[in-house]
Parts: sequence; C-alpha cells; structure tokens
Amino acid sequence: MFCNNPDAGLKAIIAMHSTVLGPAVGGARMRHYANEADAVRDVLRLSRTMTYKNALAGLNIGGGKAVILGDPKTDKTEVLFRAFGRAVDALGGRYITAEDVGTDVNDMEQIYLQTEFVTGVHQVHGGSGDPAPFTAYGTLQGLMATLQRRFGHEEVGQVSIAVQGLGHIGMELVKLLRERGAKLFVADLDPKLVDRAVNEYGAEAVKPDEIYDVAADVFAPCAMEGSIDAQTLERLKVKVVCGSANNQLASHAIGDELYRRGILYAPDYAVNAGGVMNVSLEIDGYNRERAMRRLIRSIYYNVGKIFDLSEREKISPQYAADRIAEARLGAIGKLKLPMGRTRPRLGHLRGEH
Ligand code: NAI
Repeated sequence: MFCNNPDAGLKAIIAMHSTVLGPAVGGARMRHYANEADAVRDVLRLSRTMTYKNALAGLNIGGGKAVILGDPKTDKTEVLFRAFGRAVDALGGRYITAEDVGTDVNDMEQIYLQTEFVTGVHQVHGGSGDPAPFTAYGTLQGLMATLQRRFGHEEVGQVSIAVQGLGHIGMELVKLLRERGAKLFVADLDPKLVDRAVNEYGAEAVKPDEIYDVAADVFAPCAMEGSIDAQTLERLKVKVVCGSANNQLASHAIGDELYRRGILYAPDYAVNAGGVMNVSLEIDGYNRERAMRRLIRSIYYNVGKIFDLSEREKISPQYAADRIAEARLGAIGKLKLPMGRTRPRLGHLRGEH
C-alpha cells in the first residue's frame, strides 16, 4: 500500500508479505532512498524476511514491513507519524507496525495516537518499549548456540569478536559480550560510538572498512544489510558469522560459500528475532518475564535445530532455516485457519475498550 499525504509530508509504503500465521507484523523503517524503486525493493525484501523470521520463531503472526521515505535526522514531525498511523489504521489490523532503523519509541507514541495497531509503544501505555535490548539479548543466545556447535563450548569469554555497527543493537551486544569477558574489536561510521565502546567496554577500535580483515573468532554484522558479498567474503578470517543485521548475505550463494569454507553462519533472521518476539507479546498482553523466558528458550534452540538440519541434509544453514520456516507456513497454511486467537486486540489489552 502506497501512502501519500503531501500535507503531512508523508510518503510511505506498507508491504504485507504473508498473513497465513496471523496479522503481518514488522517495523517501520525511516530512510532516505535514492528513488521510489529502491524503497519498494527494500520493503518487499524486508517483509519477506519478516514472514520467515516470525514463522521460524514459532510466532502466530505473519510478515510485513513499512518504509517511510525521508531522512530520520531532519524530516521527523508529529504530523508525519500521525498520518502514517492513520494509514496503518486503515488496514484494520492486518498490518501491525513497530520500531525499525530510523524510528524509535517516541515515534511509536505519535502513531499510537491514531491507531492501536502499533507495538513497541512505551511501557506506560502497557506496551513493551524499545525492542533493541531484546534483539541484542537474543543475538547473544544465538551466538552461544553457534559457538557450541563450532567450538564445542558456549563460553563467550573465550573468544574474540569483531562487531560491525554500534547502534541500538551493536552497542548493547558489546556491553553483554564485555560482561562475559569477550575480546572485542569494533567499527562504526560514527567515531563517537567507537569512542564509547573503547572507553566504556574496553573494545579495540578498527576502521569501518577494516573490520572484515580482523583475525577474530567471530564476525558479528550489526549494521546494514548485504555486509557479506563476494569481495568481503574473501577477506574474512573468522570461523563464525553471527550478528543482528537483517539480510546480512548479499545472496544465498554467499551462504553456500561460507558453508564450503567451514565458516559457520547463524542465519540472521533466526538470531535477530528477539525484538519481534518481544513486541509480539503485546498482542496477547505484555509481560516482561514471559518475554525473557520465550527468548532464552527459543533462539538458542532454533539456531541449534537449523544446524542439525544443515548437518543432516548437507545444506547450508540459511537454506535449512528457510526449510523449517516454509514447513511451518505450509502446514498451517493448509489448515486455512481464520485469524482466531491471533486476531489483534491490542487496544482491548491496553484497557481501551
Ligand atoms: P541503528 O541504526 O541504531 O545502528 C546501525 C549502526 O550501524 C549505526 O551506528 C551506523 O553508523 C552503523 N553503520 C552503518 N553502516 C556501517 C558500516 N558500513 N560500517 C560500520 N558501521 C556502520 O540500527 P539497529 O537498531 O542497531 O539495527 C542494526 C541492525 O539490526 C539492522 O540491520 C537492523 O535491521 C537489524 N535489526 C534490528 C532490530 C531492532 O530491534 N532494532 C531487530 C532485528 C534486526
């Protein structure tokens, strides 16, 4: 759905990739795109990823995503987000939005003024707040499962990790890794963030383009998509790739090449599902303890299940992840269930009805 509201300065696109498992859930990304075609490509690819992520995570929600065309540093206004909220509301709950790159809890607050179909709203409204700490914690769980498989132990303190990107997730992950004694190398385009990681968490700074060359055990991509392509792959010296970024591999062929070289890749959408697991609990009534329990159990377990299938079938982990997600979508899809219990009732739970 294309949303154009010139009075509000809003140009956005909402993509609903699948509602087989429930309402399409996925964040709203605000970003400057060179042209509309790039924005369409991005939202379609991201919405497909959400379908697979949510299916694999065992959630009863489908996959969707939104992009708001604009610069998050200069173009944010109340009216823009309220107009976006109205567009989300017009879909009647078939799409539920949340934070993504370029948007935050404050923006969700504006959207919430216009629609109940928004998650990741502040705790004071009965929401779950910023999903980033949960994504970071889930990434840690995914990393532990991957270390276990590759090195036979899950001790983060015994490995060195090169973290690319020190935003909401990357910085939180660095903190968690440091608390567990990991040796850290970090890179970001923003030198202030690098200084913080060095001063607060004892990390070693690396230039953004040199992070691929670091002789660490693990490469953790936590910046933007497509980080590993034919060129950067050649430079990797690590034994494990595991991070939070969406669509880390430029293509599935890159994943096959990592597999061939014995670099264990933890599929991105299995590892970074912590945020959506957390916000999706708002649909049934949010409870932080329940969120942590769900997260700890399932990401570690799901990543292990993917490696089991990969080893059994001799296929690369990202194909194994796709297969598990598709099996669930196929099986539930065949039943043609009505939305039933997964019908969103966010407003009800927040005491509005
Ligand atoms: P963010 O925008 O807060 O942080 C991204 C950071 O990466 C920024 O500090 C930026 O300067 C840096 N960066 C960009 N290009 C870089 C490069 N070439 N080299 C080094 N650093 C670079 O985003 P956030 O929320 O931390 O998300 C990070 C990744 O995780 C994104 O791919 C996002 O889609 C994904 N993700 C985020 C979730 C969340 O809960 N926030 C949930 C699931 C996935």
